[in-house]
Amino acid sequence: MYSEKVMDHFQNPRNVGEIEDASGVGTVGNAKCGDIMRMYLDIDENGVIREARFKTFGCGAAVATSSMATELVKGKTVQEALLVTNRAVMEALDGLPPVKVHCSLLAEEAIHAALWDYAEKNHIVIEGLEKPRSDIHEGEEEEEY
Ligand code: FES
Repeated sequence: MYSEKVMDHFQNPRNVGEIEDASGVGTVGNAKCGDIMRMYLDIDENGVIREARFKTFGCGAAVATSSMATELVKGKTVQEALLVTNRAVMEALDGLPPVKVHCSLLAEEAIHAALWDYAEKNHIVIEGLEKPRSDIHEGEEEEEY
């Protein structure tokens, strides 16, 4: 059911933890399953993501997607990080079963929420970044996938 990469990132998640004095922190929840993901980003003065860590209280797919999402955003500019969509994360994991697609949306939302927090703290606007929803409602995942 799960790809080897999903199993690997679930069993050995990368970048678990917190970042003290993070540049941006975003917490999102999925109203449907109750799972919660918190993303911490350390962003340097050039807008490059130096470090990304996460804490996920959720299912295996949520853990695997947050792990992969942190790997994908590291070293990217905040603008490039916007391209790390749930689809990009899923592709990097060699796919997810259809019933688990909503879990990857949590990772995308968590990145966006952390970037939003960073932008607010620094009084900047990140082009293309919309104010994140605090949760993902039923029915919306079909549109985005
Ligand atoms: Fe809740 Fe996967 S079932 S995020």
